[in-house]
This record gives sequence, C-alpha cells and structure tokens, in this order.
Amino acid sequence: MNAKKLAGEKAVEFIKDGMIVGLGTGSTVHWSILKLGELVKQSLTIKGVPTSKQTEQLAKELGIPLVNMSSIEQIDITIDGADEANPEFELIKGGGGALLREKMVASISKRMIVVMDETKYVAHLGKFPLPVEITQFGWEMTSKQVSTLGCEPKLRVENNLSFITDNGNYILDCHFGEILDAKRLNEELNMIPGVVENGLFVNIADTMVIGNSDGHVEII
Ligand code: 5RP
Repeated sequence: MNAKKLAGEKAVEFIKDGMIVGLGTGSTVHWSILKLGELVKQSLTIKGVPTSKQTEQLAKELGIPLVNMSSIEQIDITIDGADEANPEFELIKGGGGALLREKMVASISKRMIVVMDETKYVAHLGKFPLPVEITQFGWEMTSKQVSTLGCEPKLRVENNLSFITDNGNYILDCHFGEILDAKRLNEELNMIPGVVENGLFVNIADTMVIGNSDGHVEII
C-alpha cells in the first residue's frame, strides 16, 4: 500500500465546494492535488493557493483555478506534507525547500491538515535536520550565528550547486538533535538577521492524516 497516497487522498475529504485551498508541496500532498484535479473536472469549485512553483505548475496542468495570496484575506484549509510531526502538532517542514511560502500560506489558513506516512510521526522532533532559509548575502555569517544555537549548519547542495529556493535564497540544514522547545527555537532562529524563515511550524497545524503501509489511515 502506498501510505503517502492513502493520506494525501483522504485529506481531500475535508475540502468542500467554494473553499479557498492552500496547496502544499511534496510527494504526499501531490496525491491530494491530483485528487482535487479530478474533482474539479467533475464539478468541485475551489480556488487554490500554491506554496511553490512546482505545485503551481501541477495545479495549472490539472485545471485547478488559482488565486493570488495578495488578493485574499484568508484561506479555508491548507493541505501540506511534513518531514516530522509530533503529538503536539509541531512540525519540521522544508525538506523540499518550500518552507517560507508554506508557512506564509498556512499562517493565513483557518485550518492546516498535515498529510504524511507513519514514518514521519515521532515522539520528539529533531532526527530530520531542520531546514532554515537564509539570504545569499552574508550567508557564512548567518550560518555561524545559527550554529551558536546548537547545531552544525550544512548549506544545502543539489547537483553540486547551492540549492536556491523559489525566493532566491539558500537553505541551511541544521541537526539540533532532539528539539524539546520548538517554540523557543523557532523564535531564536527568526531573530537572527539573514534568517528568512525556518521549518518549525508551531501552533499552526490542527489535523494530521497519517497513512499506514498496512492500508489504514489515522486522523488525529
Ligand atoms: C517541502 C515540505 C514537504 O511538505 C515535506 O518535505 C514532506 O515532503 P514529502 O511529502 O515529499 O515527504 O515541507 O518544503
């Protein structure tokens, strides 16, 4: 059983006619977007707000109408994936590098539904290195300051080149070990000049849809 597909498709049951829907990024929410595309072809009327260029392109190919975030006040529901989630609904996101737009979209959403397979649901965050989006300007200095919070930041590289986000920034992947106070770390990171945003989502998600490889889906 494809646990990501199970979770991604199940979450679409929360979407009702007329909603503005935040469309996350990644291989789990991919299934939600495909399903939404099918339903839109049938008769569902929604407007999507994409969280990355990749998602924007997929939504356009599927004929999902899109709306610019600047022209709306609120999003009804955002569906998005996570790299880790704990029972307090705290998340690490940004494995795909879309964390800034994902957090912006989720922050104006009445609800955020997180879709994942069972391997992402953990007692404590921190096994997955925390992605931190930083400006290219002065990145070495920013990296040094981030390291004082207790990690050894690694500049993300893809195909032998520095990874560049949709916003033209770099990503530092930061191994903090067990993150016991996500709220505090989130605030401390975002206080550092040069840090644009980090992948900790605290007090944002309210529902988790977890697909299991044995075929059942859990909604928390
Ligand atoms: C992208 C993200 C993704 O939602 C996260 O990496 C999970 O991805 P996947 O569903 O492919 O495992 O935060 O920035």
